Amino acid sequence: MTDRIGFIGLGLMGRPMARRLLAAGYQLTVHNRSWRPVEELASLGARPASSPKEVARESDVVFLMLPDSGDVEQVVLGREGLVEGLRSGSIVIDCSTVSPETEVAIAGRLKEMGVHYLDAPVTGSTPAAESGTLTIMVGGDREAFERVVPVLRHLGSRIEYMGASGSGQLTKLCNQIAVAGNLLAAAEAVLFAERMGLDPSRVLEVIGGGAASSWQLVNLGPKMVGRDYRPGFKAAHLKKDLRIVMEVAESRSLPLPLTSLAWQMVRALVSMGYADQGTQSIIEVLRSLAGSHKPGTT
Ligand SMILES: NC(=O)c1ccc[n+]([C@@H]2O[C@H](COP(=O)([O-])OP(=O)(O)OC[C@H]3O[C@@H](n4cnc5c(N)ncnc54)[C@H](OP(=O)(O)O)[C@@H]3O)[C@@H](O)[C@H]2O)c1
Repeated sequence: MTDRIGFIGLGLMGRPMARRLLAAGYQLTVHNRSWRPVEELASLGARPASSPKEVARESDVVFLMLPDSGDVEQVVLGREGLVEGLRSGSIVIDCSTVSPETEVAIAGRLKEMGVHYLDAPVTGSTPAAESGTLTIMVGGDREAFERVVPVLRHLGSRIEYMGASGSGQLTKLCNQIAVAGNLLAAAEAVLFAERMGLDPSRVLEVIGGGAASSWQLVNLGPKMVGRDYRPGFKAAHLKKDLRIVMEVAESRSLPLPLTSLAWQMVRALVSMGYADQGTQSIIEVLRSLAGSHKPGTT
């Protein structure tokens, strides 16, 4: 449907996604808060834009990959925002993980201008962004979704329409609930192995193929053991995701005891200075709680 695509938010996920669209031959216009990633994409052939408004003027479809709800609101509706440059018939695809409520409100506002807005959060982290194997969960107008599927195929291997506006984000929140539980379980298993005097790497190899397996255990467990906290998914973003889960759950008086615990643990992690480290660093909260106490002593 289009050759002119815009991309705003060139962080850990946005950069590889934008690179793939460029490699697929689209005319790509890019913008980011800091300038260095814009220059990097420009060196590969993208057009740099100094504002979201400029991106909107140059594009028929605009992707967003931003941290939080407030960032998306600012980029779409703020001064020099997309809203000042979009034309009727354009489609905005928000791949960030943000509040479903925010997405519904923005979709309603853009609909008045004849612009379609799809919430399309992703799972799969940075390796999947690089290889184009993300899972993309989409909410919004079905016809608009069908029109952009050919573009989404360059980014994801599983592209699913989930329903009305906000449904993509609600699906992603289900994912984050399960991610948080599995992350804590993996971290506790590694800590337990360490403190029992076992070789934790060997334990992960042995249990990673059985009923205890999870993406978190297999991929992040070894990094916990090796204290490799370089980010694929930043702790600050998991804290934000769990905050959104708890807000949505609270609005329906829904108890989520495990997620609530995970949220407190991630809040502690961020307070300890790990905001920009990977979520595998959650094991540092457990190590801190455990102190230097040796099992078997009182
Ligand atoms: N990383 C993952 O594994 C993963 C997986 C699935 C979903 N997500 C979600 O995807 C989103 C992005 O994640 P990420 O890991 O790519 O985050 P990130 O590395 O923090 O990147 C966010 C990017 O957005 C830019 N930005 C922030 N505010 C902006 C604004 N007002 N205008 C223009 N650019 C702005 C930042 O610019 P600066 O350079 O100035 O900071 C940064 O480049 C988050 O919602 C996250 O929860 C992440």
